This record gives sequence, structure tokens and C-alpha cells, in this order.
Amino acid sequence: MNDQALEARVRDLREQIDYHNYRYYVLDDPEIPDSEYDRLMRELQELEAAHPELITPDSPTQRVGAQPLKEFKEVRHAVPMLSLGNAFSDGEMADFDERVRKLLKVDQVEYSAEPKLDGLAISLRYEKGRLVQGATRGDGHRGEDVTSNVRTIGAIPLRLLGKGWPEILEVRGEIFMPKKGFEELNERVRRKGEKTFANPRNAAAGSLRQLDPKITASRPLSFYAYGWGELSVEKLGDSYSGVMEVIRSYGLPVSPELKVVSGLQGCLDYFAAMSEKRDSLDYEIDGVVFKVNDLEQQQRLGYVSRAPRWAIARKFPAQEALTTVRDVEFQVGRTGAVTPVARLAPVEVGGVVVSNATLHNMDEVRRKDVHIGDTVYVRRAGDVIPEIVRVLPERRPRDAREVVLPKHCPVCGSDIIKPEGEAVARCTGGLFCPAQRKEAIKHFASRRAMDIEGLGDKLVEQLVDQGLVHDPADLYSLSKEQLMALERMGEKSAQNLLDALARSKETTLARFLYALGIREVGEATSQILAQHFGTLEALEQADEEALQQVPDIGPVVAAHIAAFFRQPHNREVIDKLLAAGIHWPRVEAPAAEEQPLAGKTFVLTGTLSRPRNEIKAELQALGAKVTGSVSKKTDYVVAGEAAGSKLAKAEALGITVLDEEQLNNLLANIQ
Ligand code: IVH
Repeated sequence: MNDQALEARVRDLREQIDYHNYRYYVLDDPEIPDSEYDRLMRELQELEAAHPELITPDSPTQRVGAQPLKEFKEVRHAVPMLSLGNAFSDGEMADFDERVRKLLKVDQVEYSAEPKLDGLAISLRYEKGRLVQGATRGDGHRGEDVTSNVRTIGAIPLRLLGKGWPEILEVRGEIFMPKKGFEELNERVRRKGEKTFANPRNAAAGSLRQLDPKITASRPLSFYAYGWGELSVEKLGDSYSGVMEVIRSYGLPVSPELKVVSGLQGCLDYFAAMSEKRDSLDYEIDGVVFKVNDLEQQQRLGYVSRAPRWAIARKFPAQEALTTVRDVEFQVGRTGAVTPVARLAPVEVGGVVVSNATLHNMDEVRRKDVHIGDTVYVRRAGDVIPEIVRVLPERRPRDAREVVLPKHCPVCGSDIIKPEGEAVARCTGGLFCPAQRKEAIKHFASRRAMDIEGLGDKLVEQLVDQGLVHDPADLYSLSKEQLMALERMGEKSAQNLLDALARSKETTLARFLYALGIREVGEATSQILAQHFGTLEALEQADEEALQQVPDIGPVVAAHIAAFFRQPHNREVIDKLLAAGIHWPRVEAPAAEEQPLAGKTFVLTGTLSRPRNEIKAELQALGAKVTGSVSKKTDYVVAGEAAGSKLAKAEALGITVLDEEQLNNLLANIQ
């Protein structure tokens, strides 16, 4: 490419990327898949890397790049950033509307309505269409210069789109963290054992106030505009909604919920509709903001102290409240997870009385330092189970008690284990524990386990609910009469089920082990165990050390297996199953070359939907070799999301690359 063509291509790529950002963030209507967007970005990055003289500060590749700061500089707002008056009831809304109508001497006012986003206010300064500064609100007159951080937020354009924008344009709006991003961030933080953020607003504020823009860039922040500051032109329109439309046309996201409503009734209806919609939005809102839509009317109304007379925030009831922890009990879930639940002194949060809050797991109890007797903040967000946000250590009574994980399951009495490095404690009563009964039986009957045809989830639920089946072994003593007495069960289906049960008795050791539903023991591990130990007795007698000798069985899996067979209840159920006639042929290790993937070498790379070890074990059980680096000897590279150099090497060497779905197809076809 000659210089001119190169420059033209770079310009073209930047325009395309900016346009697709606009489709994605502003219109919420992307035109191309992410992979295509990534390809454009990569091409631009490559051209810029080869020709650094072409890099401009507003190139979409230059969002992250600034060095960490020592401190934030102060920014003076030429037009102050105001706050809003609040209304907490319909009555207070009526007062607001009446005041506005009186001052304007009109009967009815047109308002623009939009959600009150729960994030932090920001002022974005564009000069000649380029983003030159981002500043926090601070005290309204002086804020902090967070330009480098703001530049990392994808929803904020570095250059305005279109033409005709004023030379100076300050756009005001809210930076916030979408709920999903917040959950993921907290999960990441939790896994690292660090302190989680109490809510998306704190997470957004903490993320924006980072001296190192790289940290901000790694946080899922977004932005909606809801106003403006300094302008180099007299006005951008006659109404608030009209100006926001213009701002949107410059490529800045504006809430898609923005609507113009008429009079008090219009406001009340919008508020009711938004209260309904609130939980389904993918970001948190704490109310609705109503603004007089006509800008000339706004001007006539003016300001009182630091808030405009022409706007009001109708707030939702508070989502947080203070209460005390009366006790902490432990619940056992369907999969055996033991979860601490705080019993609280009942308190109203956001219009609902709350008396329980989940604590997730013991790590969380320790991190939040919850004691029985503590005074705590509880929070209820949407439909989710209330959570303890934090304790007030200064209010801890002297007789406060520590929370201790019980040694035995509160439901079935089996041991509870919490393997080193795992956050979740579990009941080991698998087959026996009533809390896990239904799930254990559904799993036992499933196609890849005992393959009991016709024994679907609904039927399992009926059998358990009617007390006919307490553990999987009971399935084999069901009579035709018992089955026929069930809902929607005729003689024919009852007989079919009995036949299926009889057929399932002939199985393999690997399937039987898998059917037991031992934690962390999937199909691949079951096969490896069957192969390694040959008999059930040998496996039952293996201690953790012996188990860890098996390829791909680490300490966590070994602990789960040993704990499972240590429970007398589980052994009883196994004995009953064998007594019912379940049997399998002796396991003979297949000659290596008979295994379907014998002689094939795989490399796994990128982010896959399951732990790599699990896939590795599955492949090894089928005779494949799994190595860490790509060479000419590699037969297949399995590439997940964001695969990097290994994928590139495989492509260069012409090795077959499979995505996860293709791998699954391959596995499904050979088993
Ligand atoms: S308008 C002059 N609109 O609420 C009016 N503010 O309590 C300036 N906020 O500092 C604000 N969503 O951070 C407006 N749609 C919205 C908003 C909104 C959230 C925040 C903003 C402001 C605070 C005032």
C-alpha cells in the first residue's frame, strides 16, 4: 500500500469503528457481530503498529494508553453541576407540579421523564468534536480531571459523529456499571479473596477514581447523557427532549427510556411504569427524573440554591435498611451446597419486610466479618434475595457470637466437607440426603448415567413427593400398582417403566460411578476411575492418597470421592442397589490402540466453557494425549474465546482447529 492508500484505509477503519460503536452503544442495535468488530480493530492496531506516525489521540485504539497518575488535577466547571430536589411520594410530586404551574401560570406542563441512574455524574468536554476532558462533579463547582479514565469507556465517543456540532460542547451525564458487569466484577474480586463492592454505584465510582486508567479500562462501565454545560452556541434546541435528540445524533448515548409526558398524571403513570420495569433493566436506577421540557419555561423557573426549580427526582423507596442478625442457620441446596443464611430482626426494605439474608458461603461470612448479634445494613435489589452489605463493628454487642460451619448436615447428618481452596461447603450425603434427593435421583436416572428411559424429572418429583422413593435403590422395588396410581400413568407406561428399570440393571462400572453423583466426578473421571481401579470394592477402599495417584485426579476431587464413600448412608444405598441386581461386566483395560482417540494429540487454548482439566480428562480417557504447546505433531487445537498465539501457530502450521462445539460433536460421535 502506498502512503495515501494507507492513510485512507486507517481513516476508513476509524470511521467504521466509530460508526459501529454508535450502533452498539447509542442505538443498541449492532449491525455486525463482535468478531467482525474485533477484526476491524485488529487491522487498525496492526496498521498503527507498523506506522506509528499515523496514530492520533482520538483513534479508537488509543482508549487505554495513558500512564498512571500521581493524583487527579482539579477542574473548575464553567457552568456548575447541580443536584436535584427529591420527591418521595405522589403527594410530593403533586406539590412540585403545582409549584411549577403556579410560577409559570399555566394549567398543564409538559415534562420529559427518564430513569434516575444510580452511578456518578460526569461532565464531558468536546472541543471541535474531540473529547478533551472528563471531570467528576465534585462539589458542583470544582471536580476532578478523570479524562484518561473516561477515555477507556466504550460508550463515550472520543470524536463526535456527524457534523454541525458546536465548537465547545460539554455533555453531562451519568457513568454507571450495568448489573451483569457488576456481578461479574464482584465474582472476580471474590475469587481473588478481595473485598467485594457493596453496589454498582460504589463499583462505578471506585472504578472511575483509579489513578491507573488500565484498571478503569478493565471495569464494565457505561454512560448515558442527561444534560449539558458550557456551549459555544446559544442553544441546541427549544426543548430538553429536542436537545437530547441532537446530542444523541452526535453519537452520545441517551437513555432509550426518555419520554415526554403531560402533566402530573403523565408523571405518575411514567413512575408506575418504570417501577414495574425497574428489575428488567440491566442497570440500577433509584428513581425517575422529571424535567420541564420547554427550555424557555426552564429559564423562567430558574434555580433555588443548588437545584433547579424545573426538575425533580421521584425516588423509589430506600433499598437499604439497618437491622440485627438474630442467628445464622445453614441451608442445604439441591446439589448439597451448604449456605449460611442470616435470620434478621424483621425490617422493611424498599416496601417489603425482610427477615432473612443469604451470606453465600463461609468465606463471605469471614470477609464481611458477620457475627450473630451484629447490626448490619441489608439491601434488596430487584427480585434477588436480600444481602448483608456490611456490618457496623462499632455496634457489636459484647456477647456477639462467631458463625461456625457445622460439621454435620442439618438435614441428614452426613459429614460436611469444605475442600481446601473451595468456597462452598457441601453435604456428603449425596444419595441419601433428603435435601438432595430429587436431584440425586434425576441424575441417577439420566441418559448418560443409568439411562432409565421414561423416568423424567416430573415423575421423579411425584415419586419423591408421594414418599414412594427415598433413594435411587427404591426405584427398583416399585410395583406396577404403585406406578399406575400416579398421575397420567396408564398400565402400558407403568410396564414400560418397569422394563426400562430392569434393563438399566445391566450397566458398566463407569456409568454406575457417574450415576452416584459424587461431586466433581463427571463422565470422564468415572471412566478413568473404572479403568484404574477395575472394581467398585477397590475404589471404595482407596484413600485420598491412593486416589491422587490416578492421572488427573487432584486433591479436591480425591477429597470428594473419599468423603462420599466414607458416609455409611451412601454405602448402604450402594449395597441396596447391588442387591437389587445392578451389575456390570468386569472392567478390562482396553488395549491402548483400541481407544478411539489413541495416538491423537490435542492442545487446548483460550477460554472454554468448562474447566480445561475436565476436557483434558475426557480426552485422555479416550486415549488422546493432551499437551501444552503446538507443534507439527499436534493433531487438533481446541480454541476457546480469546485464543492467542497457540491458535495463530496452529493456523500457520495448518493444524485442524476445533471450536468447542466442534469438539463436542467429535466426542459425541465417538462415544
Ligand atoms: S439531571 C440540573 N438526570 O442524580 C439537573 N440527573 O440527585 C442535573 N442523575 O448529580 C441532573 N440520573 O448524578 C439528572 N436522568 C438524570 C439522572 C441524574 C442520575 C444523578 C446525577 C445528579 C444526581 C442528583
